[in-house]
Amino acid sequence: MTQEVRIRIVGTGSYKAAGVLTNQDLEKMVDTSDDWIIERTGIRERRVAQKDVFTSDMAAHALGQALDAAGLQANDLDMIICGTVTPDRQLPATAAYVQQKIGATNHCASFDLAAACAGFLYGLSIADVFIKTGKAKTIGIIGVELLSRVLNYKDRNTCVLFGDGAGAAVVTGDTSGRGLLSSHLFTDGSLTESLFIPGGGSRMPASRETVDNHQHYVHMAGKEVFKHAVRYLSSAAKLALETNGKGPDDVDVVVAHQANMRILDAVSRRVEIPLEKFVLNIEHYGNTSSASIPIALDEAVRNGRIAQGDTMLMIALGGGISWASALLNW
Ligand code: UT7
Repeated sequence: MTQEVRIRIVGTGSYKAAGVLTNQDLEKMVDTSDDWIIERTGIRERRVAQKDVFTSDMAAHALGQALDAAGLQANDLDMIICGTVTPDRQLPATAAYVQQKIGATNHCASFDLAAACAGFLYGLSIADVFIKTGKAKTIGIIGVELLSRVLNYKDRNTCVLFGDGAGAAVVTGDTSGRGLLSSHLFTDGSLTESLFIPGGGSRMPASRETVDNHQHYVHMAGKEVFKHAVRYLSSAAKLALETNGKGPDDVDVVVAHQANMRILDAVSRRVEIPLEKFVLNIEHYGNTSSASIPIALDEAVRNGRIAQGDTMLMIALGGGISWASALLNW
């Protein structure tokens, strides 16, 4: 008997930006300390891309690796979904540059998706619909951010948190029972300005004044986002389990957005899944927004942390505020 079609991740890849910015480096730039950053966030260092590297370069590298891992070519892709809030340009989509850079000449649909830190899981869910309805067979999903270009390195509330990087996955349809079991996407539009870049869009076009007022940088009400992150991530994780008739003990591995160790710890306790089951790399990369989950996933796949048949929970939350959960049978 043929099982229902599910999307399965058949290859992963990532790009780690070359520069390493440590807490000690930041101590020389803003009024902060290694102790404060480690205690309040769990971050020791984050990556910063070199000046001549663009978002699309990092994305193309990660997607190229994912295609290699899957044993597929660029022209096998029917679609490229690029989750990012730090695109190469406002126009055109970074995904179009990625298509060019990986050498896909088949004119596959290529678009960006702005769901901030939840971008990769939003992309996974969109890919699921296209593949299940037969409108695509093979899709590349990328999470990529070049946040160092939109950070104010004089604002200690934000500059210590974020880093650059990219992660990608290639998905195809599978009828063996493996793959994505469910996904849930949410947005709370009442919290739009708790994490945002005020300037540069149609609300506040770029001007000398917006530059002088630092309005092209990330602004965040950290405490407010923290509170909602714990609540919304926990409820989305529980929903993923309930939907599939599973409990916390059934989960083998959690690949969660790496924003703050204290958030992960609080969610772990609320959902009753021990932190040992979480893939953790925040210490080395900080918060890479949409790249966070696919980078952690790629590392876990490559170092053998994940075995076939494992039940994997994914959760992410970021600007919007948008959040998501997914449950997979690896
Ligand atoms: O990925 C998207 C989602 N983003 C998140 O999930 C981030 C959520 N928020 C957070 O992770 C945390 O709120 C932060 C790490 C951003 C801040 O931690 P906190 O424990 O909420 O600190 P706070 O904002 O309440 O600040 C506590 C104190 C303040 O000083 P006073 O007012 O008590 O004197 C801050 O000014 O810590 C001060 N502070 C710092 N001190 C040293 C804030 N940033 C720093 C810093 N170094 N970098």
